[in-house]
Amino acid sequence: MSEQDWIKKGDAIMRHETPRLDPEKLKGFVDRFIQQKDRFLKCVAANGSPLYAFDETALVKRVQEFRGAFEKVFSEIRFFYAMKSNSHPFMIRTLIAQGCGIDVSSGEELKKALAHSPQEVVFSGPGKTEDELELACRNAKIVTVLIDSFGELKRLSSMAALTGVKIRAGVRLTVDERGLWRKFGIPLKRLSAFFEEAKRCPQIDLCGMQFHTSWNMDASQQTAFLKRLGEILAGFDKADLKRIRFLDIGGGYWPFEGEWLQPAATPEGKLKECLESSHGFVDGLDHRCVDALPIDRFATALSEALKAYIFPHVRPVIFCEPGRWISQAGMHILLRVVDKKDDQLVITDGGIQAVGWERFEHDYFPLINLSRPALKERECLVCGSLCTPHDLWGYSYFGQSIEVGDVLLLPTQGAYTYSLRQEFIKAIPKEAFLEP
Ligand SMILES: Cc1ncc(COP(=O)(O)O)c(C=O)c1O
Repeated sequence: MSEQDWIKKGDAIMRHETPRLDPEKLKGFVDRFIQQKDRFLKCVAANGSPLYAFDETALVKRVQEFRGAFEKVFSEIRFFYAMKSNSHPFMIRTLIAQGCGIDVSSGEELKKALAHSPQEVVFSGPGKTEDELELACRNAKIVTVLIDSFGELKRLSSMAALTGVKIRAGVRLTVDERGLWRKFGIPLKRLSAFFEEAKRCPQIDLCGMQFHTSWNMDASQQTAFLKRLGEILAGFDKADLKRIRFLDIGGGYWPFEGEWLQPAATPEGKLKECLESSHGFVDGLDHRCVDALPIDRFATALSEALKAYIFPHVRPVIFCEPGRWISQAGMHILLRVVDKKDDQLVITDGGIQAVGWERFEHDYFPLINLSRPALKERECLVCGSLCTPHDLWGYSYFGQSIEVGDVLLLPTQGAYTYSLRQEFIKAIPKEAFLEP
């Protein structure tokens, strides 16, 4: 791109600001949790803080909502909870009891899943080791391996022969042949060759395909890939088509509230930061939102794309691997204020090592002062107690005021927090289970 093109692009970004988060929508969200404040305060009184508070009622409601949306439009669909999004045994146990299989991405995850006797497991991910393939083969009755490469097909075939099993498998397809996503799966144009190669591996029952696109705010990435896949399947041998019994359409559904961002994480915010690295001023009440499609509309769009592009060639059972959409609701974080430096600066007992990274410099999530609840948001730097300036929970809180000893709730933090927790400076929070 020429310099002029870059300038034009920058200009367009600055002119189309990411929309503000609707304050009424935000208040409605906060109010739902204020209504339940006694439930949370009781949990902190009994268990102390900081705390990961697991919420069975919310988790079950969420998974049922997800399943309901898809089951309404799909005649044959199976759900595999992507445990990387939250690998706590409670999540695995509860979601298995709700009829889900488990999607694992490593031998470690597979071992944890097996401890809860799942009915079905899909094992995806690049670079599976010999040990991991062996564990999969030794559990071939329930595990389907989603093979990531031609090399892995050979390694799995040898391991299946060594362990004396025939193992069910699918092949992962690359959704973007450029950049970092190239590392996953095989390119579509090599799909037919993969089926040919698998015919020479009698220990492998290659009977499916998988793809996964991430951060889907709507179904466009998934439907575009289904169209490309349909074009390839149109040229497939009839005998090969007959082998395809499942199509795994992955996860990546963004929850319906949309993506809530600090202004610094928007395209225009990032540009400003490049131009003026010390702009530093943060308006604690300015939150941005990128909308996401409700889950029933995701389900409808995917069902229509499958009917249009895939079902004319083959009628596989659909597998689906949701993580974030489900786990987000199943866990909350509770903190206590331990120091108040002034009205607009407090320190809490929990640090962001509880969520693994400097998440809240980018993401916005409301902090609710359960000890002095109010639907009024006030500016205040709410920091953790780690000895690093990036230990930040947010630039505001909802409440009448804030004092030492107050209990703060960061609701719906189940996704990609607990699984990313780190032992860094302070201990990892304790775990507790909310009463229904
Ligand atoms: C193969 C695969 N399936 C499912 C998921 C779950 O995605 P999400 O939690 O966004 O639904 C992931 C996440 O990285 C993934 O890599």
